[in-house]
Amino acid sequence: MKEKLSLLKTQAKEEILKLNTLQEVEDFRIKYLGKKGLITEISKGMKNLSSEERPVIGQLLNEIREEITNFIESKKEEITKALKEKQLKEEVIDITLSGKKVELGRLHPLTETANLLKKIAMDMGFDVADGPEIELVKYNFDALNIPESHPSRDITDTFYISDEVCLRTQTSPVQVRYMLEKKPPFRMVCVGKVYRPDYDVSHTPMFHQMEGLMVGKDISFANLKAILTTFMEKVFGENTKVRFRPHFFPFTEPSAEMDVECVICKGKGCRVCKNSGWLEIMGCGMVDPEVLKAVGYNPDEVSGFAFGMGIERITMLRHGIDDLRAFFENDTRFLKQFK
Ligand code: DAH
Repeated sequence: MKEKLSLLKTQAKEEILKLNTLQEVEDFRIKYLGKKGLITEISKGMKNLSSEERPVIGQLLNEIREEITNFIESKKEEITKALKEKQLKEEVIDITLSGKKVELGRLHPLTETANLLKKIAMDMGFDVADGPEIELVKYNFDALNIPESHPSRDITDTFYISDEVCLRTQTSPVQVRYMLEKKPPFRMVCVGKVYRPDYDVSHTPMFHQMEGLMVGKDISFANLKAILTTFMEKVFGENTKVRFRPHFFPFTEPSAEMDVECVICKGKGCRVCKNSGWLEIMGCGMVDPEVLKAVGYNPDEVSGFAFGMGIERITMLRHGIDDLRAFFENDTRFLKQFK
């Protein structure tokens, strides 16, 4: 019996060395220690042994059972460890490889300028309004006191959709819409796209304007000068010199053009300011009584001023850009420059 047992032990030891998978180890366990396993079968034969032999064999059996259990445990451990190592090796990530750089987008310089202008206006108490780009001829021209014969109404200057509808050529119709909806006093600005059939170095068929309007009791040209001067100082820096020149617009009377000292040469004279030292920056004036009447206001009770400027022009001056078309070509190398 003793010999049988030690043979069994040697056999088990040899067998277990050849095992490679957890399933094989389990089969091995069942073969030796299972209910019908080899060791169990032998234990059943114990009852036939003599009372001297029984405890000796019993102890031996226990030892062998324990030993086989130990084999199984350490084999399992060995296999699990090998599996884990294999997995780790397979799933290894080379953290020394540099990652893909995430390119951050940024706001288009025109959007950025528009945001700046709106922010300055809001800080000065202006409401930010909006209006449609497809506009009624009535609001784009008639209500703004622009006569039927005005050249800006020609099909060479305006994109018409029908006799009554066009793509707005200016943001000024938003003044009309705003006044029809609100009661004075108020101050509002509007930034948006406008359209004209032009295309060369300084004109694109779509561009952007900002319109402003302030209406109330006793609003004067002095208010216009004060507010627009402060506004331009906030855009181009404190102590930016400005001047107002008489001009004509059908919707304002009196009208003016506002210049700022050339931001490129600081007034000395350069190519950008055509050696004048000044840059034309916006149109403005006191709202014409005819415009106030067209929206049902009484010009004897309220007055106001209006102004309009090109967003592209201001952006070009802020960044020293000399070709307008660069804004719309979407060359990211151009767009990336502006921080
Ligand atoms: N609408 C004018 C244009 O497109 C700009 C303008 C000038 C707007 C004077 C105004 C203004 O509100 O008062 O050229």
